[in-house]
Amino acid sequence: MFGPLAETLRTRRLVLEPLTVHHADEMAEVLDDARLHTHIGGEPLTLPELRARYARLAAGPAPFHQEGWLNWIVRRARDGRAIGTVQATVTPAETWIAWIVGMPYQGFGFATEAAEALVAWLRAQNVRTIAASIHPDNTPSASVAAKIGMRPTDRTSGDETVWQFPE
Ligand SMILES: CC(C)(COP(=O)(O)OP(=O)(O)OC[C@H]1O[C@@H](n2cnc3c(N)ncnc32)[C@H](O)[C@@H]1OP(=O)(O)O)[C@@H](O)C(=O)NCCC(=O)NCCS
Repeated sequence: MFGPLAETLRTRRLVLEPLTVHHADEMAEVLDDARLHTHIGGEPLTLPELRARYARLAAGPAPFHQEGWLNWIVRRARDGRAIGTVQATVTPAETWIAWIVGMPYQGFGFATEAAEALVAWLRAQNVRTIAASIHPDNTPSASVAAKIGMRPTDRTSGDETVWQFPE
C-alpha cells in the first residue's frame, strides 16, 4: 500500500465511507444504469461482478506497484442512502481522483461536495499533485472539476483531458 489509508469523511450533507466488499450489494442498484458509462466506457456490472471488483479494490494493489487505491462510498447523511462513489489513485508522481453519482441523485451538487472533501483530506495527508482525467464531452464532470478549482491542462490521457489545480 502506498500513501494514506482511507478514513471516514463527513461533509454538510454526506458521509464518505471507505469502501468494503459489503458495499457491493447496495451499490449494485445505484450503479445499474448504462447512462453512467456514456463518457467513461464499460457497462454496469452484475452483483457478483461488483462484489469481485470491490474485493479487489479493498485488497489494494500488490505492494511492488507503489500505488494506493482509495475508494469511498458516498452516502447521504440524512437517510443513509448510498448515492455514489469517489476514488483517489495515489502514485509517487500524482494522485488521480474520480467521482460517480447515481442518476436519481445527480444535479444536487453531491459530486462537488464529495470531491471537495476528498481533495481537502488528500491535502491534509500531504498528497500534493492531484489530477483528474475527463472526456471532453463529459460536461457534468468538467463542471465538478471546475467548481472544486481544477483547470483543464494541455495534457491528455487517451482521449481524455487531464485537469489539475493551478500551481
Ligand atoms: C459527473 C457526475 C459525478 C456529476 O455528479 P453530480 O452530483 O450531478 O454533480 P454536481 O451536482 O456536483 O455538478 C453537476 C454539474 O454538471 C452540470 N450538468 C449536469 N448534467 C448536465 C448536462 N446534461 N449537460 C451539462 N451540464 C450538466 C450541472 O448543472 C452541474 O454544474 P453547475 O453546478 O455548474 O450547474 C455524474 O454526472 C456522474 O456520475 N456521471 C457518470 C460518471 C462519470 O462520468 N464520472 C466522471 C468520470 S471523470
